[in-house]
Amino acid sequence: MRSDTGQVFRLEDYRPSDWLIPSTDLSFRLDPTKTRVIANLTLERRAGAPADSPLRLDGEGLKLLSLKIDGEDVRPGWFEATPDSLRIIRPPKRKRFLLTIETELDPSANKALTGLYRSGGNYCTQCEAEGFRRITYFLDRPDILSVYNVRVEARRDEAEVLLANGNPEAAGELADGWHFAQWRDPFPKPSYLFALVAGNLAELRDSFVTMSGRKVKLGIYVEPGKTGRAAYAMDALKRSMRWDEQTFGREYDLDVFNIVAVSDFNMGAMENKGLNIFNDKYILADAETATDADFANIETIVAHEYFHNWTGNRITCRDWFQLCLKEGLTVFRDHQFSADERSAAVERIADVRALRAHQFPEDQGPLAHPVRPRRYREINNFYTATVYEKGAEVVRMIRTILGAEGFRRGMDLYFDRHDGSAATIEDFLKCFEDATGRDLNQFAIWYQQAGTPNVSVSTSFDALAGTFTLDLEQSVPPTPGEVRKKLMHIPLAFALVGPDGNDLVARSDDKSVEDGRLIHLTKRRHIVQFRGLRQRPAVSINRGFSAPLTLAFDQSTEERMFLARHDSDLFCRWQALTAMLTETLMRATAHARGGKSAAATKGLVDLCIAIAGDATLEPAYRALALNLPSEAEIARELGSNIDPDAILAARNGLIRNIAVKGSATFAELYASLAETGPYSPDADAAGRRALRNAVLDFLAVGSGDPGLAAEHFHGATNMTDLVAALTVLSLRFTGSSATKKALGEFERRFGDNPLAMDKWFQIQALAPGHKASARVAALLKHPAYDAGNPNRVRALVGAFASANQTGFHRPPRDPQSAACRPAGDRIPLMAVAGAGAPRKGARDPGVDQGTRRALGRSEGHCRAHPRLKNAIAALFFGWVLDKANHV
Ligand code: PHE
Ligand code: ZN
Repeated sequence: MRSDTGQVFRLEDYRPSDWLIPSTDLSFRLDPTKTRVIANLTLERRAGAPADSPLRLDGEGLKLLSLKIDGEDVRPGWFEATPDSLRIIRPPKRKRFLLTIETELDPSANKALTGLYRSGGNYCTQCEAEGFRRITYFLDRPDILSVYNVRVEARRDEAEVLLANGNPEAAGELADGWHFAQWRDPFPKPSYLFALVAGNLAELRDSFVTMSGRKVKLGIYVEPGKTGRAAYAMDALKRSMRWDEQTFGREYDLDVFNIVAVSDFNMGAMENKGLNIFNDKYILADAETATDADFANIETIVAHEYFHNWTGNRITCRDWFQLCLKEGLTVFRDHQFSADERSAAVERIADVRALRAHQFPEDQGPLAHPVRPRRYREINNFYTATVYEKGAEVVRMIRTILGAEGFRRGMDLYFDRHDGSAATIEDFLKCFEDATGRDLNQFAIWYQQAGTPNVSVSTSFDALAGTFTLDLEQSVPPTPGEVRKKLMHIPLAFALVGPDGNDLVARSDDKSVEDGRLIHLTKRRHIVQFRGLRQRPAVSINRGFSAPLTLAFDQSTEERMFLARHDSDLFCRWQALTAMLTETLMRATAHARGGKSAAATKGLVDLCIAIAGDATLEPAYRALALNLPSEAEIARELGSNIDPDAILAARNGLIRNIAVKGSATFAELYASLAETGPYSPDADAAGRRALRNAVLDFLAVGSGDPGLAAEHFHGATNMTDLVAALTVLSLRFTGSSATKKALGEFERRFGDNPLAMDKWFQIQALAPGHKASARVAALLKHPAYDAGNPNRVRALVGAFASANQTGFHRPPRDPQSAACRPAGDRIPLMAVAGAGAPRKGARDPGVDQGTRRALGRSEGHCRAHPRLKNAIAALFFGWVLDKANHV
C-alpha cells in the first residue's frame, strides 16, 4: 500500500484521460521471486485531445527492466520512471503507438495481498481498486477499458493450472519443464478486473446451458483434495446464473466461468471477469465443517460476484466515486436473490439488522459520507457499509417507487444504453427516468447527502368523523461537513391494520399516498388524512423497511403488542417485538447499574414464547423471536454512558426469565425439532436447526446445567449443531469442565482445518467477562493462529473487539482493560496490534480512518490509541461481505 500522500481526490475534478489503451497484451513468466511481466499496450490519443498531451502512467513499487515504443528502446532522456510512475516525456505525435514495458516482480515478498502475490504456494492477483499498477505501469483507472490478451508461463511442477480472464486460447509445452497458457477476454474491461492464477489446484467441473442455448464450462479451483467441499458453491453458482436470466434477462457471455478459492484474501471475494477469486471461507463447505450460516454466506457471495458480471463488469464505474454504482446495485441484486431462494422475511430482517449494526453507526458518526462520496484520499477506505448496504437500500427504494415492472424497464434500458462503458450514478438514474417518465431529481439526494433520515410520526383519530390522521415529519441530522440538509424523497410503505389483523383499505385524497400503501414524503411535513374508519386502526409503518431511516414514533405498548402478534408484514411484526424487547432491556440495564433487576413489559415474555411455539410461522422466523437484541444493539440504542456489564446482566436476566417461563414449550420444541435424516443446508432445514439451537440456549440457562449442551455437542452430526452447543458451553459455562472437554475435543478433531478452527477461536473470544482479554492473549500464541491471515485475525481479535462488549470494553481504569489503557505494553490487545502487522503492510486502510472507524464502533468510552491501528483496522476491513461475523 502506498502511504498516504495527502492528496485529495475530488469528484468534480474528473476529466477523461487524454490517452486510451484499447488493447493490452500481457506476458508473465512466473517465478517465486523474479517474475517477468511484459506489457504491450496500445496507446491511443483520445479524439479531441491535444497532440502534445502528456502521458503519465501509474505504478506502485515497480522495477522497470526495459521500455520500448513501437519496438525501439526509448532513449533515457525521453522518459522518467520511478517505482510509482512512468512519464513519457515526449510521446509520439501519431494517434496510436505500441508501448512495451518490461517489469520484474517479487510475488513472494508481496504481503499486501494486492497486485501479484502468493497464497498457499499459488500465484494469484488482486487488482481492485488500484492493485494493477503493482504489476505494470498503466492508466490504472476504471474508465480505461481495454481488451486483454494474457500469456502465462510457469514451471509445470510449480503451477499445473494457469488461469486468466476470458476464454482459453492456447496452451502447450515449453523447454526446461515450463509450459504456457494463453487467454483472451474479448470484453473491454478496466484494469481492476484483471486476474491471473497459477498453481497446483484441483478443479471441480460442471457446465451451464444459458437461456440462448450456449454451453458454458464452469470450474471451481481449490486445494487438491478439497473439490468435494466446493459442491455447494457450484450449485449456488448455477442457481445464480439461472436467476439472473429469469429476473433480469442477463445471460452469461464467455465460454468459461472460473472461480478460485485462496486462503489469504482481505475481503470476501472479487468479481474479476470470468475468473472470480474468493476467500476460501466462502467456497469450501460441507456438513462436517461448515455451519448453516457459512452455507448461506457462500450462496450470497457466489451470487454477488457472479451478478457483478453485468453490474460492474459489462457496465463499470467511470471513477471510484461511483463505486456504489456497481456495489450498491449488486448487493441489492444478491439480496433479491437470497430473498427468492430463502425466506424473504427472514432475509429482510437479517439485512436490516446488518444495516443498523454497521451502516447506521457509520452514518451517525465521524466517518459519515454520502453513498456516493465527493472526496477521498484513499479509495480503499470507501469500501464501506454506506457504499454497499445503504447503496443497496437506495436501489431498493427506486424499485419501491417505480414498482417491479418500471424498475425492470429502467434496468433493461441501463444494460442497453451503457453496456461496454464506464458509467455514473447520473447515467443510472436517467435510465429509470427515461424508462418510466418519473422525475428522480429529489430522490437523487439519497446518493448525495450523508446521514440517516428520521421520520417522526404522530397520529390522531376522530371517531365521530371516522378520520384517522398521520402526521409525518422528516429531518436529517447534521453530519460532519454537511450541516444543512436537503429534503428527501422518502418512500414510506404503510398499512392501517384493523382489529382482526387484516389491512384496512386506506382511503385518502392526499396526493402523496399511492395505492393506499405507500406515502411519498417529499416535503418536511405531511399531514395525511384517511377517511371511513370506524375504529382507531393500528399503524404498521415503514413496512418491509421501505426506507433506511429511524422512526420517532411513540406507539403504545398495546398497539405494538397487537402488531407483534398480527401484522401481516413480517418485518413490521418483528420490528414491533424488537422495539419492546429493546425498551425492556434498556430499562433493565439502568436498573442493573444500581444492582437491581427490572420487570419486562407485561406480556412480552409470554409473547416470545408464543411466537417460538407458533407452528403457523416458519421456524427461522420463530428463532428470531428468541434472538434478543445483542449487547451491541442495546449499547447502540443507549447511545452514551454505556456499561457493558450492566447490559450483559440485563440481557441475561431477560433470557433467564424467558427460559424459566418457557421451559415446557422449549423442552417440547427441542424434542420435536430433532433432525433424523441426513444433513441438508437448505433454508427450511437450517431454519429448524436455528430454532432448536436457540431453544437449547434457553434450556441450558433455565437448568443452570451444562449437561444438555454437552450432550448436544457430543451427539451433533453437523457443524451448525456443534458450534451452537460449544457456544452455549463457552458463553454460559465458561471454564467449566464440560466446556473444557468440548473445546479440547473440537480442537483434536479440527486442529488441521483452519476454517473450522476459526470457529473455535471465535467462540472463545466471545465468552464474556474480565478474563476474556487474557484468554484471547493466550490464544494468540496457539499454533493454529496466524496473525498474517485475515480470516484468523477476524475470528479471534475481530470477534473479541467487535462482539465481546464486556471483555473488550473494560472501564478505563480497570486493570483488566484491553483497549482503554494509555500505555499498552502489558495489554494483550496491544500485543495484537503489534503482531497484527507481521506481514508488513498487510493492508493499510489509511490508518487513521481505519482506527477511527474501528473505535467509532467501540461505543465511545474508550479512547483511541494509535498502536491499535493495524490490527483493528485490518479487522474491520473484512466486514463487507462477512455476515457470519455480524454477531
Ligand atoms: N469488489 C469486491 C466485491 O464487492 C470487493 C473487493 C474490493 C475485493 C476490493 C477486494 C478488494 O465483491
Ligand atoms: Zn461487490
